[in-house]
This record gives sequence, structure tokens and C-alpha cells, in this order.
Amino acid sequence: MNVLIPEEAIRERVSEIAAAVNADFHGRTFTVVGILTGSLVFLADLVRRLEHRHQIGLLEASSYRGTATTPGTLVLNTGLLPEVRGRHILLLDDILDTGATLSQVTAHLVELGAASVKTCVLLRKIGRQTVPFEPDYVGFAIPDKFVVGYGLDFNDDYRHLPFIGVLPDDTSV
Ligand code: XMP
Repeated sequence: MNVLIPEEAIRERVSEIAAAVNADFHGRTFTVVGILTGSLVFLADLVRRLEHRHQIGLLEASSYRGTATTPGTLVLNTGLLPEVRGRHILLLDDILDTGATLSQVTAHLVELGAASVKTCVLLRKIGRQTVPFEPDYVGFAIPDKFVVGYGLDFNDDYRHLPFIGVLPDDTSV
């Protein structure tokens, strides 16, 4: 496993993001919404550095690849989401790739009546974005490689790694 971003660097950057969120959300109660499953580790570390009262909610976003639907159509499961109407939302995802997930989930939260939606990603792949979307907080810009660890998976494995790594070509490691 090649380490792309070591544990210590992630810890420092998450603290910096938390400081920015603390400044921006000063005096406002809000809801942190994590997109399952990749954002879980990031969410757990970030919320413990936030100073203002907030709720936590989760939602599931999966790309539906069935033949009857346009490829890439996003299916959202909002069963774990608390009421967002009138709430300020901080939406978290692990990585911004094409931008489709974050832009569609943001639009959905606005449709549900959120008062505002700010977005935060730990990682952003350089040169991959096809949907115009600008997140409010970005942890690291990374090269176009498939990454795992700190919540990100390959076949639902490697999420537990405390660093961001790039799998070697032999993925049986
Ligand atoms: P979009 O294209 O919608 O993609 O911005 C966001 C989602 O794609 C997944 N993704 C990855 N997952 N390693 C992963 O484990 C990667 O390198 C990677 N690139 C994209 C991820 O689920 C993210 O939420």
C-alpha cells in the first residue's frame, strides 16, 4: 500500500477545516449530514472538533446502474436523515470525483427546505470533475488515482486504514 496522505497530515487538515467551520457557523445551530458510507470516519473526527451545537444526520447515495435507468442516476435513501426544513446544513462527503453526488445531494436538501447548505469534502480528484460544483471546504486535492482508507473502500474493504493510500496494482494485498 502506498501512503498518499499520512495520518498526521489528515489530523492537521481536519483541525483546520473544523476551525473554518467554527468561524463560519458561529452563532448558528446546524446539522452535519454525512453521505454513507465513505464519509463516516471523516465525520466522526470532524464533529469532535466543532464548537457549536449541531445535529448529525446520514444519507445514502448510490449510483443506480440498472438498464432501465440512465447510468449514473443517483438513488438517495433519506431514511436516516432528521428534519432538514429550515436548518443550516453542512454536507460531508469523502471525495469529489465527477461532482455528480455532491451537486445532486445538495439540490435535494434544498428541495427538502434546508435554510442553507455548505459542502465539505476531504478529497478532491484533480482533472475528473464533469459537473460544475464548488465545495465550500476541501481537505486535499489529489491526483486521479483510486484511493482507499480513512473511510474510503475497495470492495468494502480498507475503510479502517488511518491514512489515505493507493492500492498497488495487485489488489489482493
Ligand atoms: P462523484 O463522481 O459523484 O463521486 O463526485 C463521488 C463518489 O465516488 C466514489 N469515489 C471513490 N471511492 N476511492 C473510493 O473509495 C476513490 O478513489 C473514489 N473516487 C470516487 C465515492 O463513493 C464518492 O462518494
